[in-house]
Amino acid sequence: EKGGYPHFMLKEIHEEPDAVRRCLSPRIRNGHIELNISGLPDEALAKTERIHIVACGTAMHAGLVGRYAIESLARVPVEVDIASEFRYRNPILGKNDLVVLISQSGETADTLAALRLAKEHGIRTLAIVNVPGSSIAREADDVLYTWAGPEIAVASTKAYLVQLAVLYLVAVKLASLHETLSAKEESALCKELLEIPEKIQEAVESEPAVLECAQKLKDAQHVFFIGRGVDYTLCMESSLKLKEVSYIHCEAYAAGELKHGTISLIEQGTPVIAVATQPALYPKTVSNLEEVKARGADVMLVCGKDANVEADLAANVLRVPNVHDVLAPMAAIVPLQLLAYHIAVLRGCDVDKPRNLAKSVTVE
Ligand code: F6R
Repeated sequence: EKGGYPHFMLKEIHEEPDAVRRCLSPRIRNGHIELNISGLPDEALAKTERIHIVACGTAMHAGLVGRYAIESLARVPVEVDIASEFRYRNPILGKNDLVVLISQSGETADTLAALRLAKEHGIRTLAIVNVPGSSIAREADDVLYTWAGPEIAVASTKAYLVQLAVLYLVAVKLASLHETLSAKEESALCKELLEIPEKIQEAVESEPAVLECAQKLKDAQHVFFIGRGVDYTLCMESSLKLKEVSYIHCEAYAAGELKHGTISLIEQGTPVIAVATQPALYPKTVSNLEEVKARGADVMLVCGKDANVEADLAANVLRVPNVHDVLAPMAAIVPLQLLAYHIAVLRGCDVDKPRNLAKSVTVE
C-alpha cells in the first residue's frame, strides 16, 4: 500500500508532480483558465471586491501563498484567517466579498463553522477541498476539488501543493477577469503552470542534498526559519512540518523582524534556515542572514538555481528549479518537506502518525 516507500509521507511527497498535473491540466485550455466551478459564473468572480481565505494549519499556510498570488496578479485585496479566530471575531463581510475555505479533509470543525457563518451573512462561499463529498464540499456554494487522491500521512504534503495549484488558477482567472493581466500574460502564466509538475519532479530529486542537511540538523534542539514576503509563508509551513514530525522546536520569522527581539535567541551553533526564492528580496534576506551568522548561527539557504550566493554565506545551499517568481513556492517547499521527513526518520519518530495528532480535526 505504501508503493515500496517506507512511509506514506515520503510516498505522498513523491506523488506531488502527478497530483499537481492532475489538478492543473484539465483546467487549462488554449492559454486560458477554465474553472467550471459549480454555479460560480465568471461574472461572480469578476465582481468580487475582496476575498477572505479561511482555513487551519497547513491549509491556512496555503492560503497565505494564495494571498500573495491573488494580490500581486489580480490586485484584489485578500485577508487570510485561522478558522478558529475568524469565527469568533465578528468579521466584516461585504456583499461582493468571497469567502474561500481551504481544507484537505473537508471535515475540519472550525473551517466548517466559518463556512456556515459566511453563509448566514449571505456571502458567497467557495471551497477548495480534497475529499469528495465531504461536509465543506457539500455545504459551500461552489467547490474546486484538488484531486490529489487520498492523503494518509498525518502531516500534509501533497495536499498543500494542490491547494497552491488551485489558488494559482483562481489568481490567474481573477486577474484575467479584472483585466490586470493581458491575454498574452495569461497565456504565458498558463504555460508556466503546465510546466510546474516537471519542476516539482526536479525538486523531489534534490533528495541527496536534503539528506546531507538532515544529518546536520538531526540533533538540533531549536531551528529558526527566516524569509521575506511569500518566502516567509514557506517558512511558516516548513516550521510547522518540522516540529510536527520531528518534535524539534522551530520558529518561523519574517527576516526583517528578527532584530526586533528574537535575534537574542541566536547563539553559537543555532541552526537558521533562510528561504530566499524571490530575486527582488534576495539581498535583504541575505543581509539578515549575515546578521545571524555574525552571532554564530549555522546557516542553510534555500534559493533559486541562478541566485548568486557568496562563497561563505551558508554551510549548505539547497537550490530549487527555476520557475516564475510568483510560482516559486510550489518548487521551493518540496526540499523543505523532505527535510522535515528525513530529520524525523533520523530521530526515530513515528513519521506518519506523530504523537497527539489526528488526520482530521472534527472538534473545535
Ligand atoms: C499539518 C496538517 C494540519 C492540517 C489542518 C487542516 O501537516 O496536516 O495542520 O492542515 O488540520 O486540515 P484540513 O486541511 O483537513 O482542514
